[in-house]
Amino acid sequence: MRITVCRKAHFNAAHRLHNPDLTPQENAAVFGKCNNEFFHGHNYELIVHVEGEVDPKTGYLMDMKVLKDYIKTEVEDYLDHKNLNIQVVEFKTLNPTAEHIAYVIWNRLRSVINKNLELKVTLYETPRNYVEYNGK
Ligand code: NI
Repeated sequence: MRITVCRKAHFNAAHRLHNPDLTPQENAAVFGKCNNEFFHGHNYELIVHVEGEVDPKTGYLMDMKVLKDYIKTEVEDYLDHKNLNIQVVEFKTLNPTAEHIAYVIWNRLRSVINKNLELKVTLYETPRNYVEYNGK
């Protein structure tokens, strides 16, 4: 039996969207308020989806306590209350858009979650704007 288990998480972080190859005017036009040179924060909501075969011995897909701990160590401890541009190494080279943050989160969780399980992350940057990434 295949099933998906999901866990929600939350973190706050600051960022600035900026492409040094663009002029200040182009950056302002493309990134709007997110180009503010003094940074600004978002309340990110994360949903981690893990899909696979239920273990007949336990009835679990995976132990949710383990998933909770992975999200804490790989996402919350790494990103919560951080300035993404300045404090998170991946964003030295990646603009910290919701797309790229989801990509970074997916890669960190992928490295610890059992390879037999499919992984997808849904990341809300605002209550109405969200992105999904499953590694493809
Ligand atoms: Ni922003």
